[in-house]
Amino acid sequence: MAKKDMDWANIGFGYVKTDKRYVSEYKGGKWDDGVITDDDTITLSECACVFQYAQTVFEGLKAYTTEDGRTVTFRPDLNAERMMDSAKRLEMPPFPKERFLDAVKKVVKANEDFVPPYGSGATLYIRPFMFGANPVIGVKPAEEYQFRIFTTPVGPYFKGGAKPITVRISDFDRAAPRGTGHIKAGLNYAMSLHAIVDAHNNGFAENIYLDPGTRTKIEETGGANIIFIDGDGNMVTPASDSILPSITRRSLMVVAEKYLGIKVTQRDVTLAEVESGAFKECGLCGTAAVISPVGCINDHGREIKFASGMEKMGPTLQKLYDTLTGIQMGRIEAPEGWIYEIK
Ligand code: PLP
Ligand code: COI
Repeated sequence: MAKKDMDWANIGFGYVKTDKRYVSEYKGGKWDDGVITDDDTITLSECACVFQYAQTVFEGLKAYTTEDGRTVTFRPDLNAERMMDSAKRLEMPPFPKERFLDAVKKVVKANEDFVPPYGSGATLYIRPFMFGANPVIGVKPAEEYQFRIFTTPVGPYFKGGAKPITVRISDFDRAAPRGTGHIKAGLNYAMSLHAIVDAHNNGFAENIYLDPGTRTKIEETGGANIIFIDGDGNMVTPASDSILPSITRRSLMVVAEKYLGIKVTQRDVTLAEVESGAFKECGLCGTAAVISPVGCINDHGREIKFASGMEKMGPTLQKLYDTLTGIQMGRIEAPEGWIYEIK
C-alpha cells in the first residue's frame, strides 16, 4: 500500500482525519459484531448519557513502522485491560480484550497508508473510546453504548520535540482521594482543561499535580506519568492510587532494570525532596509524551532546575528513550508479548 503524501517530519500532535474507523454498538445487553466504516460522524440524542453525565472512557496507543517495514503496536493488551477497568469504574460494559485487539488490528490495517514511515519521527496514534449513548436524565448509567476506534498520524506531543520543557506545580487537583484518577475517563481531562489553559497562558508546558489528600507528594501531569533519576543514576517514580497506571512507565521500569541495569523504585516522592535537589533528571512519560524531558519545575515562582539543563535530555533518560523506542521500532529485541504485529 502506498503511504499518504504527508510532511511526516513536521506534523504536530493534532487530529488528521484518516480513511477508516471501527464502531461496535452495545444494545440489549450485548456488543454487536462491529464494523469498519468511512463515517467519522456520530449522531446521538441530545440527552445521551455522555453529554449529560460524561459517561465516557478512552485509551491511547500507537502504531509504528519498524526498521524492517512491519506495522506494529506496543502492548495493546494492556490498553485493552485498562479500558476494561475504566469501563467498570463508570458502570459501563467492558469491551472484551480479544475484541479490542481484533478491532485495533482491523482499524490500523484499514489505515495502513497513514502509518508514518520508519525514521520519520511520526507515528499513528490510535484512540479507542466508548460512551453512554441512550437518553438518560436521572443520574444513572446508560443502557446503550458505542465503542469506537479512530486513528490519526501524530508528531511530538510537546512543541520543540525533545527539548526540555518547564512545568509548574498546579494549585488545582487532578483527582480526588478514592476518586477516578487511576482510570482513563474523559472527566479527569475535563477538569484539567482550565488548569492547562492557565499553565499555557503563564508560559508552562504542563501541570504537575500533587496528591489530593495532603498536597505534599508528586503525582503526575495532566497527560503523563513522571520519572526521576537520582544522583546515583537510579530511577524513581511516584506510587499513588490516584495516578493513571501508565503503560509507558510500567514498560520503562522493565527496560531500566532488565536492559540497562538501572535500579527502579516506585515510592512516595515529596515535593520537598524534589526541591532539595535529590534528582538530576526528570521526564514525563506516556504514549503521547514518549519521554519528554523536564528541565525546570516552577513552584509558585521558585525554580527547581535539573542538572540535565534546558538544552537536551539527560544521559540516563536518553538511554531509556533510546532503548524503549528501539524496542518499539524493532531495532532492539522486545520482551515476549510486547510487540503486536498488524498483518
Ligand atoms: N497519565 C495520564 C493522565 C495520561 O493521560 C496518560 C496517557 O495515556 C499517561 C499517564 C500515560 O499512560 P500511557 O503510558 O499508558 O500512555
Ligand atoms: C496518551 O498519551 O495516549 C494520552 O492519552 C495523553 C493525552 C493527553 C493525549
